[in-house]
Amino acid sequence: MSLIQNLNWRYATKNMNGETVSDEKLTAILTATNLTATSYGLQPFTILVVDNKEIQSKLQEAAYGQTQVGSSSAVLVFAVPLKITTADIEGFINLVATTRSMPVEALDGYKGMILSTIGALPAEQQQVWSAKQAYIALGTALAAAAEQKVDACPMEGFDAVKFDEILGLTEKGLKSVVIMPIGYRSADDATANYLKVRKSESDLFHFVK
Ligand SMILES: Cc1cc2nc3c(=O)[nH]c(=O)nc-3n(C[C@H](O)[C@H](O)[C@H](O)COP(=O)(O)O)c2cc1C
Repeated sequence: MSLIQNLNWRYATKNMNGETVSDEKLTAILTATNLTATSYGLQPFTILVVDNKEIQSKLQEAAYGQTQVGSSSAVLVFAVPLKITTADIEGFINLVATTRSMPVEALDGYKGMILSTIGALPAEQQQVWSAKQAYIALGTALAAAAEQKVDACPMEGFDAVKFDEILGLTEKGLKSVVIMPIGYRSADDATANYLKVRKSESDLFHFVK
């Protein structure tokens, strides 16, 4: 199926049927998500894959009772670091050097640029920047799920403080920013049949020639 057909098929699923997403499909979604673009390639986020019904039920409560959280096969929780440290940036630079078999010194200029921009931001602004990167990954994950014919719901409607408590994220130096339950649509989710509401393309796109 084409990307456009897959994107038309998907919708923000409000209720799932409890069916499990296979490891193969989950891996495909996660692999695609890891391939998302991020600024500098830094990937300043962690994605927790919560596949535990007891924890999912607590998360559902902290998501104002939204049933797609508890009825999903798993909940992807996108979390950003409370602070991006020099060590984090150096770790990334080392990964680039190792992956591309190049001397780490060859990346000094690149490292300096990241340190003087993102590295120099106050922690709160780093978190905002990291969240933007996490949302790009969310978009990729949504498209990947659609390709696998796995339903999903992007969600900001949750109490992030409660999520962080339930998942012990603060101790890990993380905070949750957005979530994506995955699973299979419940037969009684009437919103599955709602027509997509989108701007007209002439309203959305302004061509400058
Ligand atoms: C960042 C973000 C947060 C959202 N939060 C919620 C949410 O908390 N609960 C929910 O049911 N839908 C949520 N949605 C789904 C949107 O309402 C939905 O994507 C939009 O209405 C377009 O519909 P569609 O995705 O079904 O095409 C969210 C979507 C995005 C992108």
